[in-house]
Amino acid sequence: MADTSVMDKLVSLCKRRGFVFQSSEIYGGLGSVWDYGPLGVELKKNVKDRWWNAMVHARDDIEGLDAAILMHPKVWEASGHVAGFTDPLVDCRQCKNRFRADDSRIKGTPGQPDAQCPVCGTRGSLTEPRMFNLMFKTFMGPVEDSAAVVYLRPETAQGIYVNYLNVLQSSRQRIPFGIAQIGKAFRNEITPGNFIFRTREFEQMEMQFFVQPGTDEEWFDRWREWRMAWHHSLGLNPSRLQWHQHAGSELAHYARAAYDIQYQFPFGWQEIEGIHNRGDFDLSRHQEYSGKKLEYFDQPTNQRYIPYIVETSAGADRVALTLLVDAYREEQVEGETRVVLGFHPAIAPIKAGVFPLVKKDGMAELATALYHDLRKQLTCFYDDSGAIGRRYRRMDEAGTPYGVTVDGETSANQTVTVRHRDTMQQDRIAVSQVAEYLKQKMRSAA
Ligand code: GAP
Repeated sequence: MADTSVMDKLVSLCKRRGFVFQSSEIYGGLGSVWDYGPLGVELKKNVKDRWWNAMVHARDDIEGLDAAILMHPKVWEASGHVAGFTDPLVDCRQCKNRFRADDSRIKGTPGQPDAQCPVCGTRGSLTEPRMFNLMFKTFMGPVEDSAAVVYLRPETAQGIYVNYLNVLQSSRQRIPFGIAQIGKAFRNEITPGNFIFRTREFEQMEMQFFVQPGTDEEWFDRWREWRMAWHHSLGLNPSRLQWHQHAGSELAHYARAAYDIQYQFPFGWQEIEGIHNRGDFDLSRHQEYSGKKLEYFDQPTNQRYIPYIVETSAGADRVALTLLVDAYREEQVEGETRVVLGFHPAIAPIKAGVFPLVKKDGMAELATALYHDLRKQLTCFYDDSGAIGRRYRRMDEAGTPYGVTVDGETSANQTVTVRHRDTMQQDRIAVSQVAEYLKQKMRSAA
């Protein structure tokens, strides 16, 4: 059975330690929208930096892009989102709640007298299912009429397709090549939930790889392998990662083939990234709707074609949640429960805590000087309040891999202790060597 109590503990830890807060909390919150606090923003930034590094900086065949959230409304007609990005919904006439038509809590057939509302329990109050588009609409310019409607993008991918020729020509790439982008996407999800797993505003890390038709399947296989390896490189437990192949009926309107990378959350196996073979669907549709030729001319072979696209699409928030869930553990230490986020050092928001053992005998001054020196090279946190054991526990909950403590020996022999979060063991290191020691430990954990 799913252990959802872990999620409750994690949500509470995330608020307590400043990872994630509910949006607009002082007004009672906004449904399924979340804000990242000081530690959360560092965690998510580390995820995005690692992705950008692996996809853009480490490769010659992928270029970066940052397209605008608002796009011409015809983009969403061409992409199929205006017609097809819909869920069937039913309303309760009695309590005014709205549900997905396939909500397992509904008893009976919506629209029929036997159907029972899962919230107020009224029979016969549910409407027939109606299709509901998941895109958020807004208006551009001063007049709020149908001609001024624009959408908040539901995926970042379309910004890449409409810029494909711009990037191709300006970067002098040749096919096969890719375009990567990180950015916000918005979906008016009807059944959001599970904390930051399914939200209405989220961040995607998407890469579209443009290939010659006929080579798409081999690129698809390569990208599947590379993307799974990337998730492993974050230090996730490999036994909690698996593939899920989409059956024909599950395939999105644009996909010829699709696999999800799933993680075993406390609420079940769920998608964290999708790898899709989108064929020529997107570029053909944009060519048709814009009237602009989007073919590629391959000089060596004198061939002209619309490239096929292999897409890798991960959610930065979902990866952040995966890391939090995977890292969370409780241990019994000397009769007390120790809560630890065992992040891989590269992912940890803070790499080292710096502490004076006590605030006397010049220890605070030495620790402050060391902290100012270390923070030039690593993200550090200085803490001199409360018993040293409590300070270590706070850093354990923040997932900080190392704790550097200035103690009575420091001024005598210029050494400090370095405490390791996972083993709680301590090494004595020369002050002059601490930065190099920590960096070396982080490199060997990578
Ligand atoms: N461009 C393809 C695309 O958007 P998707 O499977 O709908 O495909 C890709 O989304 C990824 O975006 C998902 O694997 C997930 O990580 C993230 N994602 C999608 N909807 C989300 C939501 N409502 N909240 C958080 N992340 C979401």
